[in-house]
Amino acid sequence: MQQFPHDTVIVLDFGAQYSQLIARRVREMHVYSQIVPYTITAAELKAMQIKGIIFSGGPASVRAEGSPRPDPGIYDLGIPILGICYGLQVMSIQNGGAVERPEKREYGFADLTILQKESSLLQGITDSSRLWMSHGDSVCTLPEGFSHTGSTPNCPYTVIENEAKHFYGVQFHPEVVHTTQGKTFLENFVFGVCKAEANWDMGSFVASAVAEIREKVGDRQVLCGLSGGVDSAVAAVLIHKAIGDQLVCVFVNNGLLRKGEAEMVQKLFRDNYNIRLQYADAEQAFLSALKGVTEPEAKRKIIGKVFVDTFYAEARKAGEISFLAQGTLYPDVIESKSPSGGPSATIKSHHNVGGLPEDLKWELLEPLRELFKDEVRALGRELGLPQELVNRHPFPGPGLGVRCIGEVTKERLDTLRDVDAIFIEEIRKAGLYDDIWQALACLLPVKSVGVQGDERTYEEVCSLRAVTSEDAMTADWYRFPPEVLQHAASRICNEVEGVNRVLYDITSKPPGTIEWE
Ligand code: XMP
Repeated sequence: MQQFPHDTVIVLDFGAQYSQLIARRVREMHVYSQIVPYTITAAELKAMQIKGIIFSGGPASVRAEGSPRPDPGIYDLGIPILGICYGLQVMSIQNGGAVERPEKREYGFADLTILQKESSLLQGITDSSRLWMSHGDSVCTLPEGFSHTGSTPNCPYTVIENEAKHFYGVQFHPEVVHTTQGKTFLENFVFGVCKAEANWDMGSFVASAVAEIREKVGDRQVLCGLSGGVDSAVAAVLIHKAIGDQLVCVFVNNGLLRKGEAEMVQKLFRDNYNIRLQYADAEQAFLSALKGVTEPEAKRKIIGKVFVDTFYAEARKAGEISFLAQGTLYPDVIESKSPSGGPSATIKSHHNVGGLPEDLKWELLEPLRELFKDEVRALGRELGLPQELVNRHPFPGPGLGVRCIGEVTKERLDTLRDVDAIFIEEIRKAGLYDDIWQALACLLPVKSVGVQGDERTYEEVCSLRAVTSEDAMTADWYRFPPEVLQHAASRICNEVEGVNRVLYDITSKPPGTIEWE
């Protein structure tokens, strides 16, 4: 079982929508936190040598038959536990308490009444502190050895504890921002009760990740596909730091990249980092496969297939390879949950590589699988990657192929590259790049009439789009100051030959998607 090089607080996951948020809050305190499924055994947890355990909330009712229960041996480990919502309730009933369902669900704010000021969990918490509640069931009989140290008008047992055993439970959600002193509650548990040290930062992550990669890889070779995006770049630089020339990177130029991207990737990795880089210029292969194709899914399938063919042809030139590196992040790992033993390793279908061909028996190497996106960016900065790359907006695998609406030709792609570059430049000039989740330009399959000088024109139409988002699942259109759009539009029509009209897309997601295709 995994042992951690840093003081660690484990989040035992009962299926809560907030489990990730709990882990994030702990990491924000510079204490390492990882989510594990509730089915983990007490013996496995003991072997991890952790400082504390947080039971997450969960959608089930503890009163329902078959609802999740952790291994009762957990209560004998001598490790502090904080139960949140469902976590509080499951800890209560496993320790002799009882839970009932009051007539009404409680959802929203409640004010705390502190009953015992000395409680370790309540240090620095003010009376009437605002809490965020979201529960159907409530504890109605305290478990053995517990007292209640805080209550709210609709829930007497809002904060309970067994000080001797270091078990704490809260009915509210300290991890969400609506709980105004949520951070203090969690700090009281992590530092006050668990006595964890704040020793998790990107510097210490690099040191332990490098050691881990070296041990796993030994003297074998690793292959890493670069996409021009943040995750694969950070993964490659980290692995390179660990094993130097045992890393081979492959970069496929599919002809669907942004302006200057192929040059940037080669310069950065080959010249700056001295990384072995195989560059495959496959523009022709992609463009001829896409010739005459306009249907979006057909385009995606073709781009995916040509990519896989090119990538593996390149890989076969790289000599004996034992590992394929992937920039898989923590949210991907959690999403592909499997019961115990951790999630299975899946290769993202839309990422760089499809399924592995039969004859290539590679193991996966995923050095970022414990990190959230913003932590990957921080790691990139720690490794000295340029800020421009580290903060870059997401870019889809099929690239400009799904932004050239209608037929994809070299000429249209060149036009689109110029439009995109001007749009992004204007956004950067206005200092807005980092406020925006993603900004993009599309070329539409229509032409429009215009007038330039004294001449009538009949040319391409482009659409600009910028969105704000948390996770790309939903998005809202970005409200630009009008002059930014005005500058971009006027530069595009003046500087990009073949475009005479610029639109701005104000569709949110849903109903639109971020990309047009
Ligand atoms: P949509 O258009 O579905 O996009 O709202 C959501 C996010 O995913 C990106 N995207 C992709 N990323 N390969 C990728 O790596 C793809 O095939 C792909 N398609 C969409 C999109 O840019 C947005 O950030």
